[in-house]
Amino acid sequence: MTQLAKRLKAVKPSPTLSLNAKAKALAAKGADVLSFAAGEPDFDTPTHIKDAAKAALDAGFTKYTATGGIPELKAAIVDKLKKENQLTFTPEQVVVTVGGKQALYNLFQALLSPGDEVIILAPYWVSYLDMVRLADGEPVVIETSVENGWEPDPAAIRKALSPRTRAIIINSPSNPSGAVLSRAALAGIADAIKGSDCLVVTDDIYERLLYVPGGFYNIANVAPELAPRTVVVNGFSKAYAMTGWRLGYAAGPKDVIAGMQMVQDQSTSNANSITQKAAVAALTGPQAPLDAMVAEFTKRAAMMTDGLNRIPGVKCRKPEGAFYCFPDVGALIGRSYKGTAVTGSVKLSEILLDEFLLAAVPGEPFGAEGFLRFSFATSPQIIEKGLDRFAKLVAALS
Ligand SMILES: Cc1ncc(COP(=O)(O)O)c(C=O)c1O
Repeated sequence: MTQLAKRLKAVKPSPTLSLNAKAKALAAKGADVLSFAAGEPDFDTPTHIKDAAKAALDAGFTKYTATGGIPELKAAIVDKLKKENQLTFTPEQVVVTVGGKQALYNLFQALLSPGDEVIILAPYWVSYLDMVRLADGEPVVIETSVENGWEPDPAAIRKALSPRTRAIIINSPSNPSGAVLSRAALAGIADAIKGSDCLVVTDDIYERLLYVPGGFYNIANVAPELAPRTVVVNGFSKAYAMTGWRLGYAAGPKDVIAGMQMVQDQSTSNANSITQKAAVAALTGPQAPLDAMVAEFTKRAAMMTDGLNRIPGVKCRKPEGAFYCFPDVGALIGRSYKGTAVTGSVKLSEILLDEFLLAAVPGEPFGAEGFLRFSFATSPQIIEKGLDRFAKLVAALS
């Protein structure tokens, strides 16, 4: 056996990717599998964005670009951040990446030395922990609870801070909880970290998918004094149904962005040239297709939440954003299905897929045991049928 790098030992395979692979394998054998596991919109990329890509291809825009992105796209991003987010950045403070994921990866590679710490609020997007570990950093997890709307206790953040804390990550709307942190919660975080010089990473990837009034805001809006040490991470995957195109960006302090670009210079180089042209069209073109998508997700969020809350033993808080319901299934843990003990959310998800052909992601790898993540980025018909299958499983538990 080849001896692989030690740092890989701390990293776990993505549970969503492995669940999806298992669901696909079952479907390939002819099983009628339904999936609530999707982490991407089930809509197509809007036509005008595809047209811009076709035009770029026809114009021969197929060469390397500047590593950090084409000036036209950087200018559109600077403009978007100013107009939509009331945040001021210069083009040198922006780096265009291969998805929001690469922005985060580059950031931790650029920021962390062995043993440096990053504060992460649970439940969290699974990749945060592994990306920090891949950069030889240490994730420091802070628990939150559904009873408190998944909002962190500032005292817990104060306690978690150490001289090694280099960053705190905030993700609102959240994957997996669908929660939007209130302005008061963000102000609480800002207050807790005011004595530290750690960076604030705001992962705004779900900013467009909001089902509550009031519009989007992030911590730099609520606590402008933090803006100089805030890194905004965003991308085109969720807002513009462009997951396969792989495009994201980060905006932040000049030295941090320069470090991130250095990592990119020596790894992927520029994001796809054609995709960058399409992204300019996404930011500067009509936003109406997006409104239609959000209107549809709003209906589905209500439909799925209501359906889940009708199932005995299942409690679901209504998601305020993203496209996930995150029901509390703690009352089902410890029961048994045909003699097999439901030992946790992973086991529950396994039984759901193996016996009822429904894929849903367990909460445990997101740092929230006793929960399941149900994505409503699928049709209302599938939501109805899938909930029916889940209700059948619950009814069969003893
Ligand atoms: C919270 C969160 N951040 C970032 C990403 C990265 O998305 P992408 O790399 O497609 O831009 C995802 C994707 O699932 C996510 O859920």
